Amino acid sequence: MATDGFEPYRITLDEQLVEALATRPAGELADHHQDRLRELADNRRRHVDQGAGVLVMDGFGALRDSEVPTALATFSRLIGSLLPQNASGELIREVRDRGTRIGEGRTTRYSDSRFGGNLHTDGAEAPHPVPEYFTLLCVRQAKQGGALQLVHVRDVVRRLADRPGLLATLREPFHFDRRGDEAPGEPPTTRKAVLFDDDGEPGVTYLRKYIEAGHARDDVPDLTSQQVAALDALDEAIADPALALEGTMRAGELAIFANRRLLHGRTEFVDHEDPALTRLLYRTWIRRAA
Ligand SMILES: [Fe+2]
Repeated sequence: MATDGFEPYRITLDEQLVEALATRPAGELADHHQDRLRELADNRRRHVDQGAGVLVMDGFGALRDSEVPTALATFSRLIGSLLPQNASGELIREVRDRGTRIGEGRTTRYSDSRFGGNLHTDGAEAPHPVPEYFTLLCVRQAKQGGALQLVHVRDVVRRLADRPGLLATLREPFHFDRRGDEAPGEPPTTRKAVLFDDDGEPGVTYLRKYIEAGHARDDVPDLTSQQVAALDALDEAIADPALALEGTMRAGELAIFANRRLLHGRTEFVDHEDPALTRLLYRTWIRRAA
């Protein structure tokens, strides 16, 4: 697997459009940007909705640090509405190493750690409908590592096609831990199937450690041996490098991902010692406009 696997899905946005995204709301973009935006929407449909599930756009490197979140929010609003990413309502989340381990404690998140593996979808801790898309805008990469790994759910379903019993189990509900995002009085887990029908295509919502944390709760039944076997088979399929697309985002790139179609993870990374230079990406979750 080459780490430049994103090359076929990479396009360059022109400087004026990127600058416009950083300085005015989506509805106020000038007419001469509209053709470029239509082209961009075509690229998104072709690559994200129907193709590999990812589109990478470069051209954001010239922005000042303070303009980056605005440009990302404006870009995201061209596609739909921003969704809160946790109980505190964050719409633009900084993804950086906060020194945590995945799944430890009651509330920690994958995005706050530097560890790799654990392929998942975003919003695994949230009830349906989970976000259709998520974006990442890379401000700085790590010193080493931090490549993204993507596995498309249609390849996973194809891989497991000769094991219909396992697929049937994955289409039945599991308890996903809410990671503390539940409102007072709400249960601490949400029940949903790992595999589901998403507009006639296979959809997926998954993060194994959140499922294990959900079923480890006192008031939730233990995972059955059948469920464990189905999750093991799923993990085995998504760990197969032959199914994975691996690529590294560079500083100044914005990528959009089909969150219900792609399992994603990253390779473990090593950061720069200088805290001003550590890996930083901004993330949004998007509900597609009707
Ligand atoms: Fe994620």
